[in-house]
Amino acid sequence: MQTLILAGGKGTRLRPLTLHTPKPIVPIANRPFLYYQLDLLRPLAVNGVMEVLLSLSYQPRKIEAVLTHEALGDIVIRPVVERQPLGTAGAMRHVRPQVTGTLLVLNGDILTDIDLRPVLDRHRVRRAAVTLVLVQVADPSGYGVVELESDGRIRAFHEKPRPGVTDAKSVNAGIYLLEPEVLDLIPGGCEYSFEYDLFPRLLASGLPLYGDVTDAYWLDIGTPERYRRANADVLAGRLRRYPPESSPALTPDGSVVAAEAMLKAGVSVVRSVIGANCYLADGVQVVDSVVLAGSRLAEGAVVLSSVLGRGVHIGAGSVLHNVVLGDKSVVTDFSRLG
Ligand code: GDD
Ligand code: MG
Repeated sequence: MQTLILAGGKGTRLRPLTLHTPKPIVPIANRPFLYYQLDLLRPLAVNGVMEVLLSLSYQPRKIEAVLTHEALGDIVIRPVVERQPLGTAGAMRHVRPQVTGTLLVLNGDILTDIDLRPVLDRHRVRRAAVTLVLVQVADPSGYGVVELESDGRIRAFHEKPRPGVTDAKSVNAGIYLLEPEVLDLIPGGCEYSFEYDLFPRLLASGLPLYGDVTDAYWLDIGTPERYRRANADVLAGRLRRYPPESSPALTPDGSVVAAEAMLKAGVSVVRSVIGANCYLADGVQVVDSVVLAGSRLAEGAVVLSSVLGRGVHIGAGSVLHNVVLGDKSVVTDFSRLG
């Protein structure tokens, strides 16, 4: 089985965290995000083999560097670097020569615990050309909204619709099964979007396109607020069908603290993540927050509901609430932010 992971976007909405770390490898509970996606693929391996075409464009070397052998197991990764971003469908077209059968495509920024095996079975039974996994969200406006017929066929697709365009609440989860012929319809050598260009064309052509609604855990991690929620959800065990070997070891206060972090006396870390080589001085409090690797929090600093980038320095007695700081930010003693 082959999977294409679309990991070439710039992650602009997740700035400042993505200025020096591309979105596919920002850590969730101290584990590169991409590893969570690879966990989804293991059950789909055929005869123990899963080939992942990893479509990269933004900071590709940093992503390749994280893909160590131990973490991959049976998964074979083939990085495919686009010299300039080709768009979501352009990236699919780009790998066409390597595709040998039904292709699973994943957006590179979705955290989910979906079991894809029954989805693949239904795709085959229906002889679908394309199956889109769908999820229900309260506010669909920032997603691709899908209208379904009663038999699961897709009637309409509206990417990021303006208010009033549709009442449907099912959205494109960024997980597709595609038959290879569909890839031949994508023009080569130019930027082409799956959502805006290819999918409307497929709908007009009358091909069998199906939606498959899931109630699995699902989150697009692409903004700082959702990134923080993704960390909180992993800590709280909300990814139910998650392989136990990937579940983090928690402190009694529901946190993940890297073994290489140094916590001094009277430090309190609640429902938070502390990255490697962090130093938390006497009396520091961190609650509902993510502190990335190499950060230093001086005596008595309080960090609430915040995300601190790598190598941040928080001065003594400072209080931060609901802030997002980029890598190497410096906050002087007794500051108040948020
Ligand atoms: N290789 C490659 N080349 N990848 C790209 C490119 C490109 O030019 N542009 C974007 N991507 C990757 C991004 O890295 C990301 O993993 C994925 O494609 C989707 O891009 P986003 O920018 O995150 O899109 P979105 O979140 O606004 O919307 C998409 O995802 C929603 C679900 O999260 C759409 O597919 C929506 O329809 C969908 O509902
Ligand atoms: Mg996204």
